[in-house]
Amino acid sequence: MQNKLGAVILLVGICLPAVLGADVDIAILPSPFSMEAGEGSFSLDERSGIYFQPETEAIRAKAVYLGNSIKEITGYSPGIMPLHLLSQPKAGNAIVLRLSDGDFGSEGYGLTIERDTVTISAAEPAGLFYGIQTFLQLLPVKTDEKSVSIDCLKITDKPKYGWRSFMLDSGRQHQSIEYIKGALDWMAMLKINVFHWHLTEGQGWRIEIKKYPRLTEIGSKVATGPEQQGYYTQEQIREIVAYAKQLHITVVPEIDIPGHSEAALIAYPEMTCLKKAPESVMGFSSNLFCGGREETYKFLFDVFDEVCELFPSEYIHIGGDEAPKKIWDKCPDCQAKIKQHGLKDSHALQIYFTNRIAGHLAEKGRTAICWGDVITHPGPALNDNVAVYWWNWRKNKDKAFKEAMKRNTKIICGTNYYTYLNFPVSPWRKYKGNRTFDIQMAYEKNPCDLNELTDKQKKLVLGMGTCLWTDWNLTEDMLDGRAFPRIYALAEQMWHVGDRLPFDEFYENVKIQYPRLKALGISIGPAFAEVKKTPGINGYTDN
Ligand code: ACM
Ligand code: ZN
Repeated sequence: MQNKLGAVILLVGICLPAVLGADVDIAILPSPFSMEAGEGSFSLDERSGIYFQPETEAIRAKAVYLGNSIKEITGYSPGIMPLHLLSQPKAGNAIVLRLSDGDFGSEGYGLTIERDTVTISAAEPAGLFYGIQTFLQLLPVKTDEKSVSIDCLKITDKPKYGWRSFMLDSGRQHQSIEYIKGALDWMAMLKINVFHWHLTEGQGWRIEIKKYPRLTEIGSKVATGPEQQGYYTQEQIREIVAYAKQLHITVVPEIDIPGHSEAALIAYPEMTCLKKAPESVMGFSSNLFCGGREETYKFLFDVFDEVCELFPSEYIHIGGDEAPKKIWDKCPDCQAKIKQHGLKDSHALQIYFTNRIAGHLAEKGRTAICWGDVITHPGPALNDNVAVYWWNWRKNKDKAFKEAMKRNTKIICGTNYYTYLNFPVSPWRKYKGNRTFDIQMAYEKNPCDLNELTDKQKKLVLGMGTCLWTDWNLTEDMLDGRAFPRIYALAEQMWHVGDRLPFDEFYENVKIQYPRLKALGISIGPAFAEVKKTPGINGYTDN
């Protein structure tokens, strides 16, 4: 295959003698833009050192990260030095990380493996980080050999989208900090750069808000399952944000309002239209934050003030999905607000509500994201600082996408078919056959895998996301098995620029990852139906 640079692309798994004495299959996923085989090999061993330039803390941190990763795999601890100390590379001893001019964009990189030197070049630290992620996939999973031989090659790579997100529902089920850190590690490996953290639900409010302690004292315990108890303290949240940052992942919190808020409303019933605590529900109900009373806005502004203190992200997700208006339609306060602002109906009130919250975020220089529901009904314009997340393919097909284009609204694409990884591969609990998909469907049929965008669409499409909801008690031990291996298809769509491999060849590359995943302690679920015949490895079972 020939690419635009005239380089030969080797995207299929290549069998390289990466460990002396053992052949190791290598496949880099997501696939780089171009990969060209060279002559000879680089030998990584105890003499190898990592050299970096410029001498800044940010670039040194990349060298330290690479050194630690090499140590985990090989046991060698490469020395870490500024590049000017490298007089002349001796055979197999220099790994150079350097910022340089070039057509890399903010996250692209070049990786060249020559006999004496490995060079990772990028315009920005993020690019170096992704070059490191690629380099690590050229190493064996684990070795105690004295030397690792890596075949010479040249890779040029950059992402398709600036926004590549993974959403975890920590509202319905609470996950441990250790699990979340492990997930951030695999997000980095997949070159995913946004952790969309769904922190509030009808079944649990998981973020400590100092001004309203009942949100967690009561709201984190409204459901009964053992993994439905608990919340994240502000200190733990800061720890996650910092951990993600060194992996070049931005944490975008989601506070889902006005619906999916039963946990908050049980804690603060005065915020409902009826001033009465609702039931906690798994799905959704019409018990919403009252959109009519100013007390609601004051409460939510306070909440978002603390959210913004914790999360430096430009984007803050404010939910907005599945908010039936039955109660708003009858609430005198909601109806008075509708009248006061000349709004048409309760849906228009939800847009007003969205714009009020977005307006508050705008004062802090932030942009709100809301689920596509907000624009799939007719209604007034959204503020300029609101982006939309297109999700409901099952019900609305591409309506949210078309509406966003019509309204000049930025959009993140992540439709439930085929990016919702909670949809299992074969029926499970309430997920019947019509809510299942396999890896090939995700790879070939994902409606939000957009490849021929017009210039206008290019300006508005921020990128793609995948979600892992935890309804029907999808507990922590089951999450990796839902994500893997199908998430490889989605990471490929988020990252890879240009033509893609036919599915069968891509799937061969996915299977090459399995020993690495196993070594990282990641459970792998089935890629296709027939769960009982192919239970995956690491003891994953579906039930
Ligand atoms: C959603 O799946 N309710 C956004
Ligand atoms: Zn109301």
